[in-house]
Amino acid sequence: MQKILKWIAIILGVLIGLVVLAVAGMYISSEGRLNRVYQLKDEAVKIPTDADSIAYGKHIFQFRGCEACHGEKLEGKVYLSDPALGEVNATNLTTGQGGVAVDYKSDADWVRSIRHGVRPNGKGMLFMPAYEFYFLSEKDLGAVIAYIQSAPPADHDQPVSQLSVTGRVVMTLVKEVVFIPAEIIPHEAPRPVAPEPGHTAAYGEYLTYSCKVCHGPGMSGGKIPAFPEGWPSAANLTTSPDRYQPYFTEEGFVQILRTGLTRHGRQINPAYMPWSSYKFMTDDELKATWVYLQALPPKEFGQR
Ligand code: HEC
Ligand code: HEC
Repeated sequence: MQKILKWIAIILGVLIGLVVLAVAGMYISSEGRLNRVYQLKDEAVKIPTDADSIAYGKHIFQFRGCEACHGEKLEGKVYLSDPALGEVNATNLTTGQGGVAVDYKSDADWVRSIRHGVRPNGKGMLFMPAYEFYFLSEKDLGAVIAYIQSAPPADHDQPVSQLSVTGRVVMTLVKEVVFIPAEIIPHEAPRPVAPEPGHTAAYGEYLTYSCKVCHGPGMSGGKIPAFPEGWPSAANLTTSPDRYQPYFTEEGFVQILRTGLTRHGRQINPAYMPWSSYKFMTDDELKATWVYLQALPPKEFGQR
């Protein structure tokens, strides 16, 4: 009996030792990824100063979701607060107390931050969806920077974003979730050419990179990878017959993006589907998005 107990104790000890070693290994590798310094050339983008461009920059800030994460006064907001993952704050972007704008010495610093997800100190940020903003045209990026630079100071101190030990384990094991956007951005590739505004599928696609995170690269919806159990699946937005046909009309689409109301009068929770940002899209932008959806090849629900 005693012998068996001794062996059980030894085996348990070895197993616990292995787990501790594995977690320590993941912690060390996560440190390497979080502290990696990206050496990127300065990129020049013209930052306008006229009132119209700043107003246009505000429009971008609103419908591209910056405002939902960073706050109406750009004062910063909690993005994630969960002991299992850590505490991540969308930063205060102003020159007020706790704001990062004081660390930004040049326009190129802003460009690097928003386009590449890399801070002035060269380190990659957590969860800031720069892989979407990488595609922003010079005009749109310049305008949104002009808007940020024109914002009055907002005082709001926030703790520095930090992942917990288990958060680092998740970062190592769950590949579907992009923890550090700078890791997937092709920093050195030739700049993509942004399409001209117009009622075209190309411009519609340009406006909708954020949709693909949830509706899938092919926009056929389904379970959103790594989202919590109990979240609804994203809808199929392709021209497949299993889409919301025959009710999926342009009017119905515009109504959903402006108000979150489905054709049954059900209000979609903006935490699941961020229409509270998309409601700022102009008629022309919604039109282009609709043209893009109509041009999508049919895909069965959930084929991503
Ligand atoms: C899904 C939420 C989300 C959206 C949308 C978003 N951000 Fe962020 N942003 C974050 C988070 C979170 C951080 C902080 C990351 C960290 O602390 O590592 C951040 C950081 C930043 C920073 C870096 C500040 C610093 O600490 O140096 C800038 C600049 C920025 N965001 C601008 C923007 C702009 C402009 C947009 C829209 C075009 C935008 N963000 C959209 C979540 C978001
Ligand atoms: C954060 C994830 C997320 C993003 C980003 C997102 N969606 Fe959705 N979308 C969903 C989910 C989840 C549903 C289903 C919600 C429900 O039924 O309660 C949905 C449903 C829809 C519906 C159908 C509503 C209905 O039931 O008739 C449309 C249309 C739609 N989304 C369009 C878009 C477009 C266009 C974009 C980008 C401009 C977008 N979504 C971005 C998650 C998202």
